[in-house]
Amino acid sequence: MKYFTTVNDITDSGGLVKAALALKKNPFAHSHLGKNKTLGLIFLNPSLRTRLSTQKAARMLGMDVVIMNMDKESWAIEWKDDVIMNGSTVEHIKDAAAVLGMYCDIIGIRCFASLSDRGQDYSEHLLVQLMRYCQVPVVSLESATLHPLQSLADAITIAEHQRKGIRPKVVLTWAPHIKPLPQAVANSFSEWMLRLDTDVTIACPEGYDLCEDYTRGAKLTHNQEEALKDADFIYVKNWSAYEPYGAMPEVKTNWMLTEEKYRLSAQAHIMHCLPVRRNLELSSALIDHPNSLVKHQAENRLYAAMVVLKTMLETVRKTETSTIEVQEIEQV
Ligand code: CP
Repeated sequence: MKYFTTVNDITDSGGLVKAALALKKNPFAHSHLGKNKTLGLIFLNPSLRTRLSTQKAARMLGMDVVIMNMDKESWAIEWKDDVIMNGSTVEHIKDAAAVLGMYCDIIGIRCFASLSDRGQDYSEHLLVQLMRYCQVPVVSLESATLHPLQSLADAITIAEHQRKGIRPKVVLTWAPHIKPLPQAVANSFSEWMLRLDTDVTIACPEGYDLCEDYTRGAKLTHNQEEALKDADFIYVKNWSAYEPYGAMPEVKTNWMLTEEKYRLSAQAHIMHCLPVRRNLELSSALIDHPNSLVKHQAENRLYAAMVVLKTMLETVRKTETSTIEVQEIEQV
């Protein structure tokens, strides 16, 4: 695996979930795999879970880790090609990425959506520029449109809690917020759940429909209570509008998941990726409910990161081995 940016980078997503669960049982089984390898973590936005879980995962695989808050600590980066850099930017991504690729064997990057330029966000301009110029494997730590490490952790959590032999009904339900948030977690959760063959329903107010590239195959509704009926898993998340991009159309009813609405479900497991604004997005009682999985999701971020890094390290090793083999053949 050279890139982990979307479920489409994975040939066997169910197999990856199983491999993560095996790692969870025996987390130090590969503690030498990353010896003499360096993971570089680049953040353009804040993080708690992604930053710490990925760092810990790398260390548990024996890797060294370097971290940079590129928005604050680096030179101001120019991301556009073919520009005269006579403004505020100091270093082009072409040069910065090439240097990062020399220092690091794998690079992770967090680069949120601007929510102002949909074309740029949905073409994943920043992520693609890094991938184009760094020459090493890249892990998305949440990009403009997707958050695959979170979705893999969510898939691991659902696999641990679903009833055997039953295709679970998974409901992604929009939640209120005070400011516009990217669509990345929702897009990503939807594409992973659809790939893993769950019964997916997405409920949101009118004006908040997600980009259909990520939701094709899901049941879409603007009726939250109807969606919650018989749900096995309820995933709560806010996102801003896709059209008009980044807007927050007015919502006249309260979409916060409450205990009363929760009772419509089949005693569903409650999920949220965190951070969560208590009693705005989701009632405090439900976050702390016995059926809440929010802490399990956060814990599984570690095994999601581990299985991705392990797979990449094994790929790097194979490449190294094959290079040696080629050299040996040439010498003969
Ligand atoms: N869920 C998640 O990605 O958390 P952080 O933003 O804290 O990394």
